[in-house]
Formats: sequence, structure tokens, C-alpha cells
Amino acid sequence: MFTTTLLNWFALHKRDLPWRHTKDPYAIWLSEVILQQTRIQQGMDYWWRFMKRWPKVENLANATEDEVLKEWQGLGYYSRARNLHTAAQQVMTHGGFPTTIQGLRALKGVGDYTAAAIGSIAFGLPAAVVDGNVYRVLARHYGIDTPINTTRGKHLFTELAQSLLPVDQPAEFNQAMMDFGAIQCTPTSPKCLECPLQETCEALHMGRIDDLPVKEKKLTIQTRLLTYIYIRCKGKTAIRRRPAGDIWQGLWEPYLEEARGKEPETRGMLERATIIGKNVKHVLTHRVLMADFYLLETDTPPVLPDEYIWVEESELGNYAVPRLIEKLLEKLNKS
Ligand code: ADE
Repeated sequence: MFTTTLLNWFALHKRDLPWRHTKDPYAIWLSEVILQQTRIQQGMDYWWRFMKRWPKVENLANATEDEVLKEWQGLGYYSRARNLHTAAQQVMTHGGFPTTIQGLRALKGVGDYTAAAIGSIAFGLPAAVVDGNVYRVLARHYGIDTPINTTRGKHLFTELAQSLLPVDQPAEFNQAMMDFGAIQCTPTSPKCLECPLQETCEALHMGRIDDLPVKEKKLTIQTRLLTYIYIRCKGKTAIRRRPAGDIWQGLWEPYLEEARGKEPETRGMLERATIIGKNVKHVLTHRVLMADFYLLETDTPPVLPDEYIWVEESELGNYAVPRLIEKLLEKLNKS
């Protein structure tokens, strides 16, 4: 159903692209590498230039890397050009283009997607391409919210695409998916009102078009720098309770300078303190902390922000502290 409807749509709407008039694996490979990070319109210009200058893979293999890079200029991601050049030489060594997915996959710069694209379009191999378009179309049509940037998601969508691919028309199916994703089922404002798959589209029925596909947010682990000063003044020390809305809410800690040197009251405290721990690393779920520990011994209590209280050092054990502060106290006892 999905496949038939898609192929019917493709028959009416397929884009007329120059590399679609050939079965030459070189021409198709070149188009796929150019289109990996480039829009169709710009890619087309470059494709023509490359094909005119190096009409066969052996011409490209015999060019110098500088010539290829120069011709590539403006497309960006220059490793694509270097890989292209290397792969052309691999093809010549091999005695022609490999005709299996495995063989194609062994060419420099050719991954699963490009191998499936060349394999299906040039050789009719039944390998489904899986790219951003395919993730989007399938996630929406089948209402799948498995994140696409996970191993589980990649497997799931690859198997689904593979199961939908008609083995007698892999080239048509793959290019239909590409065009359908690019023209009809676009990332924003897809044309659902005039979509031939609207009746069977799960996301449309659930009102989840804008939520799918799902991408898992990569946790960017930030490092947070903390400078603690344990102040010892006539048997007492200053601590405060950690505020809400941050790590360690409600736990106690010694004087903390988070943005070094910002607190005017305490400027100069560090200069008089001795270091008892440097770059102490502490790993939390979403964060890495790097802490410096100082000890300041003084007879005149420094003026601290209001939230700090002075407590007897002997009473410290009654206050709950984070593990990082336990480490500080351990170092303190050793020093
Ligand atoms: N994007 C990448 N490869 C493509 C192809 N062969 N046709 C259309 N769009 C593409």
C-alpha cells in the first residue's frame, strides 16, 4: 500500500535530474557524493563541471588532488573531494566499479547510504537507502517515535525501509523516497492536505506531524569550575545551604567562588589562602565539576554574602554535605 502509493506519486512528480538519465555508476556516485551536504541546484552545477572535465572515473583518478580540490572549491567539506579522488583510484585498481554493496562500501567515503544509492540506482541491487528524508517519511507515516539518532532507531528504520522496498524496483523506490521527502513530506510545512498517503499516515491522524521524527538530545556535558575556600576562624567555619534550582539543593558547602574574582567582599582571600586540592574532578550525571580547594586561616572573620553562617568546626558533622565537599574535608584533615 505504502510502496504502491509512493511509486504512483513518483511517476507523477519525479524530479528531472541529469544523473537520472544514466546508469553509469561513476556519474551516479559523483552525484551522491556531491549531494551529501549540498542542495540539488548547486550540486547540479558542480556535477556538470566534474562530468565535463573528467567524464570517466579513470580521468578523475589521473587528475591531481589539487585539481580535484580546486574544482570542488565552494562546496565545502573538502574531505569529500579527497575521498572522491582516492576512491576513483581504488576503482581503477579494482578494474572497475564494484557491483556489490560490500564492494561499494569498501570505497573511500562510501557509507551505507551511498553504497545503497549507487547499488540500487546503477546496478539494481535491492538495498534501501536511509537518510534524513527516509527517517522523516517513515517516522511520520508509521507514527514511530524511536529516536533516529540511536543505534536502535537506525536498525528499526533501516529494516522498515528494507521491508518496504520492492526488489524489482529498488532504484525507483529509493529515489521516490528521496523526492517524496524533499517535495511532499518536507521537514516544515509538509503538504499533508494534498498528500496521497494522508489516509494511512499515523502522524497526521495523531496530530504529531511536527513531533516526528524524534531526535534524541545529545547531552552536552559541560565542565563547571568551582573554587571552595574553607575559612577557619577561631574554631569556626562559614558554610551556606545550596539554593534551589541547582545541583545539591539543600546541602551545605563552604565558601564558594564560582566565578573567580567576581565577589568584591572576598577579593584577596585567595591570595592569603593555601591550596589543599587542585583540579579535583567530580562527575555528576549531566556535568563534570572541577574544583579547587583552599584553606584560609584568619583571626578576623571576612565579610561574606548574607547566606553564609558561621558554625563550630566540631559541629560540621551535623550538616549534610555533597560528596565533593566530603573530599574537601578529607583533604583538610590530611593537610
Ligand atoms: N539526494 C541525494 N541523492 C539524490 C538523488 N539521487 N536524487 C535526488 N535527491 C538526492
